[in-house]
Amino acid sequence: MAGPAAAAVAMVLAVLVSASGAAHASAAYELRLANTSAIPFHLLDNPFKGGRALLADPKEQWEEWERIGRYSQIANPQMPDKHSSTGQVAIHSVLLPQSYKILVFGRNLPLSGPKSKPEPGVGGNVSTVYDVKTGTYVVTPNYETLFCAGHTIASDGMVVAAGGDMGVIGGKNRYNFMKEGRDVVRLFDRKTLKWTTLPGVKLSEYRWYPTQVVLPDDRVIIVSGFLDDPGRPTGKPAPSIDIFDYKTKRITVRKSRYDLGKKFFTNITPGYQLYPTVLLLPWTDPDAPDDHFLLMYTCRTGQIVRLTKDNQFLPLWNFPGLEPQGMCAAFSAMGSSVLMPFRPERDYEVEFAMFGGGTQGKGLDCKGICNEPASKYIFRMKLPTVKQALAGEWPKYWAFTGAKQYEEMPWPRVFADAVLLPNGKILVCNGAQRGVPGGTIDGGSTAKQGAYTALLYDPDKPAGKRITTLATSKIHRRGSAAGRLGNAKSECVDNCKEGGLAPAGQEYRAELLQLPYAFVDRPVITSVSKENVKYGEKITIGYKHGKAVTAATITPPSANTHSTNMMQRVIFLKTSGVTPDSITVELPSLKSRVANPGYYMLWILEGDVPAKEARWIKLG
Ligand SMILES: *[C@@H]1O[C@H](CO)[C@@H](O)[C@H](O)[C@H]1NC(C)=O
Ligand SMILES: *[C@@H]1O[C@H](CO)[C@@H](O)[C@H](O)[C@H]1NC(C)=O
Repeated sequence: MAGPAAAAVAMVLAVLVSASGAAHASAAYELRLANTSAIPFHLLDNPFKGGRALLADPKEQWEEWERIGRYSQIANPQMPDKHSSTGQVAIHSVLLPQSYKILVFGRNLPLSGPKSKPEPGVGGNVSTVYDVKTGTYVVTPNYETLFCAGHTIASDGMVVAAGGDMGVIGGKNRYNFMKEGRDVVRLFDRKTLKWTTLPGVKLSEYRWYPTQVVLPDDRVIIVSGFLDDPGRPTGKPAPSIDIFDYKTKRITVRKSRYDLGKKFFTNITPGYQLYPTVLLLPWTDPDAPDDHFLLMYTCRTGQIVRLTKDNQFLPLWNFPGLEPQGMCAAFSAMGSSVLMPFRPERDYEVEFAMFGGGTQGKGLDCKGICNEPASKYIFRMKLPTVKQALAGEWPKYWAFTGAKQYEEMPWPRVFADAVLLPNGKILVCNGAQRGVPGGTIDGGSTAKQGAYTALLYDPDKPAGKRITTLATSKIHRRGSAAGRLGNAKSECVDNCKEGGLAPAGQEYRAELLQLPYAFVDRPVITSVSKENVKYGEKITIGYKHGKAVTAATITPPSANTHSTNMMQRVIFLKTSGVTPDSITVELPSLKSRVANPGYYMLWILEGDVPAKEARWIKLG
């Protein structure tokens, strides 16, 4: 049975790749265009080798790239025709720390269908590791159905993936070896490139589409999901939370029922509470320093929730649904939500933002709504300080309109990816302009009209001046991914119908989106005084650049699926001692709760221009 699942993807990568090796040339366009060896990736539509028509004037071409960036496909030299391929439809993607590699996984292949043929060497496997630098993949077998699991990265770089889909043993499927995956917890080791399903560890109930969030002590919160395939009459959401402790490899909290207001999971339209938005806030209650705070939002309602030391999930504040219809932050009508960049000079003030969203229909029955345009809105909401919140000042705060803003994007967009860039801007890409990706019971997606053109959003510019239109992809990627360096895939194109376990028309190709700053001279990091750093510690970064750098940021690796990437953040560092070839920065304190322990990409910036390549550091 086909679930409301036909969609998704996403990824954010480590590095910004310059199209130019000529680091200090001021306007040597012809030279740059001639220098193909400077491109570290194998780009299929590499303009130097033909492909997409170039503008006649190379200078104008370069200037266009500097303005809007460029999409290209990454060739896979292992494919007979060198076509771009990650080996899987990257419904899920996790950047593996200290590498250019992405763990990608999708769902089981169908029995038949025009494009149901697996890629070479993949067979029935649903997981690969894709190397962006070489454009190639290796197969990483797994046997407990991974499709629509939740995933996060632990502080030591291990990937934790809980829940998933049902097994298909005995079915008609060609590859019928996949076992039940909805109640298991698996680990993926980036060093051995192997999956391990933890024996004896069982979630409290089936979770298909759960959201995962990781706490600073490596406990993993696993929220919601479907008990069953909603295509079946028994399907219903799992309004509960489990906590998996990565350190002890045990489920420590089972099926925590909680009162998120009756409407939160159970009383709203089914189908709109999968992969709910769950964001960990950098808040500490001085009277209860072991408590944590989470922002949860689905489609019409949200809440700030306190997780107490004794593992109760208690509501702190309800907030109403967002005003424009269609602002939804859960599958299948989801917008993509982020916490805005954190800055020490603003005391790590918290601002929540959501980009687009889908049409909220009546239940899973898509009739009459699935051709509706998606939401055009960007919603922003500043949260009060933790002190104000604990003092109960929130209703007042909500009423204060200055804390909330709505803006319009040039096009509607559902199932987009909002990607925090290392310079604090936000890339919005992928998705569709109409309909609902997946989310139907009539067997397949109704998402239509790909939102092919990427947008750049600058949160600090005045309203009306924040959006820049970027380059246009040739591939329709619903809920797929892109990033600092875009890599993206999606499960099927417009109007796909599911045949067997996965739809035909699968998309395996990976694209690279070089943002405008890939075409200007960028600082190069030459040294980092320490790679294993402690909270509050100062480190010195050496660099080469014609100008002094002005700032530094850290970003954790992404774990991305279905427009969600809950642990994504960009954190500006306190800086001191800038010289023409070094900058000294201070990591945030543990007390600020703004950064979990673990791996980060360390960036330096000259204005809005980030370093050519980040350095990996480990914090904690
Ligand atoms: C071309 O790029 C390579 C790699 O960045 C560099 O070493 C070389 O000097 C460049 N050649 C020219 C002519 O700029
Ligand atoms: C999965 O991949 C492994 C390693 O390439 C291969 O041996 C195995 O046959 C594949 N499994 C299926 C079901 O195709």
